[in-house]
Amino acid sequence: MLPMKPIFLTLAAALSVSSAAPDGKQLFTTNCSACHMLDQMVVGPSLAEIRSLYDGKADEFVKWSIAPQKKRPGAIEMPSMVHVGEEGLRAIYAHVMEVSKGVVAKKQEKGDPFAASPTRTVRPQVQRIFMPNASPASIALALDDTNSLCWDAGTCRLRYAWTGGFIDGFPYWQGNGSSLAKITGTVKYTEVASPFGKGAAVKFLGYNVKGGLPTFRYKVGEQMVTEAYSPVSEGEGFVRSFAVVTKAPLVLDFPAESGAAITTDKGKLEGGKLTLTPAEAAAFILTFSLK
Ligand code: HEC
Repeated sequence: MLPMKPIFLTLAAALSVSSAAPDGKQLFTTNCSACHMLDQMVVGPSLAEIRSLYDGKADEFVKWSIAPQKKRPGAIEMPSMVHVGEEGLRAIYAHVMEVSKGVVAKKQEKGDPFAASPTRTVRPQVQRIFMPNASPASIALALDDTNSLCWDAGTCRLRYAWTGGFIDGFPYWQGNGSSLAKITGTVKYTEVASPFGKGAAVKFLGYNVKGGLPTFRYKVGEQMVTEAYSPVSEGEGFVRSFAVVTKAPLVLDFPAESGAAITTDKGKLEGGKLTLTPAEAAAFILTFSLK
């Protein structure tokens, strides 16, 4: 294996931060599966084809993923996967080579791979994709068949939540001038600013996915924040489980016009302001019911 220079990029480091060795399968699902299927070309070439091009060429695979080129006529341009980090891309490489062993590519199927189909619909599901009204480092999360949301790793905050379908990838892959995914549903909740305050300095530290659900880690000023998402037991909405390490009392701001009825298991919630002691801030759960 040729030695490669590590890639120093805040987002690259942040999105791949993890205490354990990177999980190639998980990273593939989140970052690549939207466009690459095992045995047929959808948006990008099949893993069988990629294997035929890159078997034994991990370095070239990593290079392509960081700086993809325009190669196939009619295909859209593949977005750079630099945020996954070199170590993560090597783990994806190992996964791709493993699952594509002996697989023969089929002819192309028509249709949008994001559309619900028995083989493609996985809930919950996390997708790294370009989303409207959010930074390029955003993540789309389908909690269940009804509730989805957009979390922005660039600004470390929830952007909006919607109900109905998940996302329609077609604008994204067809390269028809828009590289943004389209929301298939109705936006019911919008967080206009970070509940931690507008001007606060944030630093994204990474996220893990367990059972399809993400936990984000970030810093707001000196406060360490962990934020996990899960579905509500019934109706429309979502649950956010926070753990905030703070020395001072914590005040979070949820303006009333955002579109959700919020309940908390700790602290005092009045007029959209949630006040918690440092002990309460260490673990609290907010339930957002959408109207
Ligand atoms: C938004 C869709 C999209 C995503 C997400 C995506 N790719 Fe691609 N990928 C493409 C397209 C489109 C091509 C073909 C580009 C061309 O030939 O011009 C491609 C081609 C490739 C190729 C073949 C390169 C070659 O020499 O022909 C590799 C390898 C690859 N992608 C790896 C990855 C990996 C690894 C990930 C995830 C970390 C990923 N892709 C995520 C769309 C995507």
